[in-house]
Amino acid sequence: MEAGMVTPAPALVRFSGIQKTYDGEHLVVKNLDLDIRKGEFITLLGPSGSGKTTTLMMLAGFEVPTHGEIYLSERPIKNVPPHRRDIGMVFQNYALFPHLTIAENIAFPLSVRKSSKAETQERVSAALRMIKMETFAHRRPGQLSGGQQQRVALARALVFNPQLVLMDEPLGALDKRLREQMQLEIKQLHETMGITIVYVTHDQSEALTMSDRIAVFNDGIVQQIDRPDALYEHPVNSFVAHFIGENNVLAGTVETVERDYCRVALAGGSTVAARAVNVSGAGASTSLSVRPERVAIIPNGNSSEGPNRLPAKVQNTIYLGDHALAVLDVAGNAEFMVKLQPGAHHGLRPGESVFITFRPEDCLALDPV
Ligand SMILES: Nc1ncnc2c1ncn2[C@@H]1O[C@H](COP(=O)(O)OP(=O)(O)OP(=O)(O)O)[C@@H](O)[C@H]1O
Ligand SMILES: [Mg+2]
Repeated sequence: MEAGMVTPAPALVRFSGIQKTYDGEHLVVKNLDLDIRKGEFITLLGPSGSGKTTTLMMLAGFEVPTHGEIYLSERPIKNVPPHRRDIGMVFQNYALFPHLTIAENIAFPLSVRKSSKAETQERVSAALRMIKMETFAHRRPGQLSGGQQQRVALARALVFNPQLVLMDEPLGALDKRLREQMQLEIKQLHETMGITIVYVTHDQSEALTMSDRIAVFNDGIVQQIDRPDALYEHPVNSFVAHFIGENNVLAGTVETVERDYCRVALAGGSTVAARAVNVSGAGASTSLSVRPERVAIIPNGNSSEGPNRLPAKVQNTIYLGDHALAVLDVAGNAEFMVKLQPGAHHGLRPGESVFITFRPEDCLALDPV
């Protein structure tokens, strides 16, 4: 090995050319290639029906890929049954056994694996301590709150020290406050235990908070795999730009392309400079993507020239506590959002004409939607 070269650790999980159809006709997962590193927290994010659960089920061994191969620590797992894959699982409806106590529920994966009585006791106690529920050992699931049941499900998935834990919308049934608290707890467990977690959600803010990397699914295809900040700053297409974070879309036509930038004509006759991220060339339709916090409203009467200046009409303003939004009519988009800084009271009146501006680097020319 050359000095200074770093050999990447082999992937813990590798999906290679994975396809899945349930009915023999329609592919619900299309050619999935995905490497998951040891110790990583990776989230599969995407709308309903995009193939997230199917992907998880194939990894767990409850569904068989139609094509391709899944590797665990570089070994194909086609012929390894689910309970031999050393994978812990947590699902949305937590499915604790109602007739077993909390301690018995947590002990269940150990009994399947034929652990000794002493080891089982020790591990169950440690798991109860981990979720801070030592005093609940002898209750039954029906006597716990939703969040407590969710913790037990988590303990049950972790009690046998799996190398990999799969979580499919584990917090979907919880209210917002509890969900946010559990997000932090899961994240902490991930950090202290050093396990690899594959997490599924369709909640983009949950994915952004928790993940090292996010794979954005749409219609059975991974659109982009990246760190949360990279997905937000550098979406590769309109779907990702729209799915991650708040996003304004302006429809336009590419006039010229020069290196990384292009000039785009918008409805109403204005043109703007944009980063040419995903455009085929001059004459092509494009959808511009501009984040609400990257737009400034130019105070009335100020006529200074900027690179990207567009006339806008104020529709209304929305107060949101820590900030406010202005809703504007801009180049054919009547719901163009601009984030207003706290304290900066613009005194914007509905019907008022203003100008907005944004930097060319904050405006992405993407595929037309
Ligand atoms: N057992 C099954 N038999 C037939 N079709 C299925 C089966 N499970 C899932 N599907 C179909 O496969 C597609 C992908 O489903 P999947 O459950 O993987 O989506 P998802 O991304 O997990 O969605 P959600 O966010 O709603 O949970 C959907 O069109 C679904 O109807
Ligand atoms: Mg699902």
